[in-house]
Formats: sequence, structure tokens, C-alpha cells
Amino acid sequence: MASRGGFTNRIGFIAAAAGSAVGLGNIWRFPYEAGENGGAAFLIIYLICMVLIGFPIMVGEIAIGRATKLNAYGAYSKLGGKWWALIGIWGILSAVMFLSVYNVIAGWAFAYFIQFVNGSLMKVTDFGSHFGTQISDVTDLFFYSLGFMVITGIIVARGIKKGIESAAKILMPSLFVLLIGLILYSFTLENAMDGVRYYLIPDFSAITFKTVYSALGQAFFSLSLGMAALVTYGSYISKRENIISAAGLVVGTDTMVAFLAGLLIFPLVFSQGVSPTQGPGLVFVVLPGIFTSMGSVTGTLVGGAFFLLLCFAALTSTISLLEIPVTFLVDEKGYSRKKIVIAFSVIVFLIGIPSMLSQGAVDGLTNFLYYEGQSKAVLDFIFDVFSDTGLPLGGFLMSVFIATKWKLHNFNEELAIGNPGYLGSMLNKFLNFSISFFAPLFLGIMFITTVLDKFFGIQLF
Ligand code: TRP
Repeated sequence: MASRGGFTNRIGFIAAAAGSAVGLGNIWRFPYEAGENGGAAFLIIYLICMVLIGFPIMVGEIAIGRATKLNAYGAYSKLGGKWWALIGIWGILSAVMFLSVYNVIAGWAFAYFIQFVNGSLMKVTDFGSHFGTQISDVTDLFFYSLGFMVITGIIVARGIKKGIESAAKILMPSLFVLLIGLILYSFTLENAMDGVRYYLIPDFSAITFKTVYSALGQAFFSLSLGMAALVTYGSYISKRENIISAAGLVVGTDTMVAFLAGLLIFPLVFSQGVSPTQGPGLVFVVLPGIFTSMGSVTGTLVGGAFFLLLCFAALTSTISLLEIPVTFLVDEKGYSRKKIVIAFSVIVFLIGIPSMLSQGAVDGLTNFLYYEGQSKAVLDFIFDVFSDTGLPLGGFLMSVFIATKWKLHNFNEELAIGNPGYLGSMLNKFLNFSISFFAPLFLGIMFITTVLDKFFGIQLF
């Protein structure tokens, strides 16, 4: 069998896994979730979810990957037999579906970047209607989403070390530089501090049961959990490395970027006196208007830098999503990586077409299904099934798998490699408690309440 390759070292793995985690979730989704759910109060609950559930689940996924050195399906099947392998199959299927939609949204970011650079956005006056026209303009989007998929494919085809790791080592530091530069600039704007205050002073009255679930859902989405992405990346790290500290750094980086994205966006929004509770349109409707009002030179620079940042963040995430099915076929069938990458890029792109057409272009796809009291597009539906509902399910099943089938002592032994003194430590006890009790309990409840609430209109809480 051809060698599957692997990350050079810890840093390579951390860069790639942090790249997977840092994505549209941090820069596009986190600020509007925080904006709608009480600012800092949301942030605090989010941090608690990260530590108590996100971090243990991440460690669990990486351990399963590294213990077997196999893809999502192969790993579960080796440790648990053919029924448990369904968790891996679910992960691979979810990754393909999720990527098909994620790539469409990445295409929007790519379009906005190009249009800031070539100056065409500077002429727009009404960004609400521009966004509507943009996302229903099929020829345009076809081109940008395809472009994004091709770039993703080229990097993944180059393999773990030369492709994924090298790309992450360039993209992640660039992302930080862009982010910090933009934050410093946004702080110089008038009323910027009102935005900082809104973001950092908690309003606990905004917290409800639903806030907790939004925060947990956001933590899962943002850390790339529940879809075997980290089982896949974990299968490429060496036995010498300390999984727990690597996972800690990934969680830390991801949280930091989300936090900084808020610190950039709220001052911008407040400097123009617009409301921060705009939902998903925040980044594509409110921000471009703010950038263009800065005048043509500054607007082009700041707007261009912002959407470049968004593209970099999305790219390291699409890479990790594409790697899930690719590793699967490289391991299980031994086909050449390049051929598999081409095949999956085409498949994912084709699956994404109905989502692309569901933003106004084709009515039957735009008003595809009716639930949660509103008509939903194919794009929303796929996110609802494979992200909001599917990720907690994936996390739930993984923790049940470790606790009941693989067994905690095997899990602990894997973590003790490269980590002397781990067995019996407080951290060991905490991780076992979370994986075998706390995480499955919360994720199970979350899965059930989400299904009932979303698809059946039944609210338990
Ligand atoms: N974490 C990414 C983001 O925040 C999205 C993502 C990439 C993801 N790979 C994933 C989510 C795997 C779940 C599973 O945008």
C-alpha cells in the first residue's frame, strides 16, 4: 500500500487542525450569534461549552484517529466492528454534504473579495439588494464556487505535508496579521468603544435555555467536531506527540480568533450606528456598506483585506472537509490521491448546485421545505440536517462509542503516550467524566430537542 504520509510534527498538526477549526464559523457566524444572544453573556457560556464538552470531544476524535491511523470509517470499524463503523460513514457523508454548502458560502466571500479588488463594489449603494442579486446570480456564483473548490482540490491533492500542512502554515499566520491589522484600524473609528462595550459587558437577562444550545452548537461547528474531521487529521500524527496539549492549543486558537472577530466587527458596526443583531447578513450586507463609506482607497484596502481574511479562513476549513472522504478512499481502496481528489471535488461541486440555485435563482429550491414556521431553501435545509442536528449527533455517538465499546482504559492509554504522568491525573478524571457522562448527556438532549424543535415544532424547554 502506498504510504499515507503524515504531519511533520506537532506544529504541522496544530496549524492544520486550527485551520480546520478557524473558518466562516468564527468570522461570519460567531459575531452574529453573539450579537443576537447578549454579547458577553454568550461569550461566557460559549467558553464553558468549549472547555467542558468541546475540548473532551476533540481529544476523543484525535485519539481514535491516532490509535488506528485510519480514516473515519476504518478507525471505527477496526475498534468497534461493522455497526460502529456507521458512525464513520455518517461522518464521511456529512462532510461531503456540509462541504457542498460551505463551498457555496465560501464562493460568496470569494466574489466579494474580487469585487473589492476590482472596484466594482465601490459603486454599490444598496448592499441589501446587492447581496440578494449576488447570491441569485448563478453564472457568477458558479464561477466563484468552482474556483474555490479547485483551489481546495489542488492543495488536498498535494497531500498532508506538502499540501495541507504547508498551506495552513502560510494561511494561518497571514490570517492573524490581517485580523490584528483590521482590529487596530477599527479601533480608530468614531464610537468604536461603544461596540467594544456592547460586546464585552454581559447582559445575563438575554440568557435562556436556547442560548446554551446556540453556544454549544456554535462550539461544535467552530471546532470542526462531530464529523470525524479530527479522527482523520489525528490519524496523521505521530505516536510521540501529546494529543491533549495539541488539542488545547487548537481550542485556544479557535476561541481567540472568534473573540478577535467580534472585537473587529462590533466597533465597525457601532461606528456606523447600525444594529448588531442583523443575523447572517451581518458580514455580507452591513460590513461592505461600512467599507465603501470609508472612501475609495481605504474602502478597497480594508474591504479587500477583510474578505481575503474570510477566504483564508474558509479555505483551511474546506481543505479539512475534503480530506475526510479522500483519506477514506486512499486507505480503503488504495486509489491515487490525485484521482480521488478530482472525483470528490466534482461530486461535491455537483451536490452543491441545488444549494447554489436555492438563493433566489430557482423558486422550488428557494422555497424548498416549510418548517420552523418559515420556508427554507435547500442550503438552509442541508445546514440544519448536517450541521445543527448532525454535529451533536456525531459527538454523542462518538462519546458513547468510547465509553461503551472502545472503553475508557484504551482511550486513556492512547492519551498517555507522549504524556507521562497523565494516568490518574485530574485531567484524566475530568476527560473520562466528560466523555462518559457529561458530554453524551448534553449532546443527546441537544440532538433530541433540536430535532423536535426544528422539524416537528415541539418545544420541550
Ligand atoms: N470549523 C469550521 C468553521 O468554523 C467549519 C468546519 C470545517 C467544520 N470542518 C468541519 C465543521 C468539520 C464541522 C466538521 O467554519
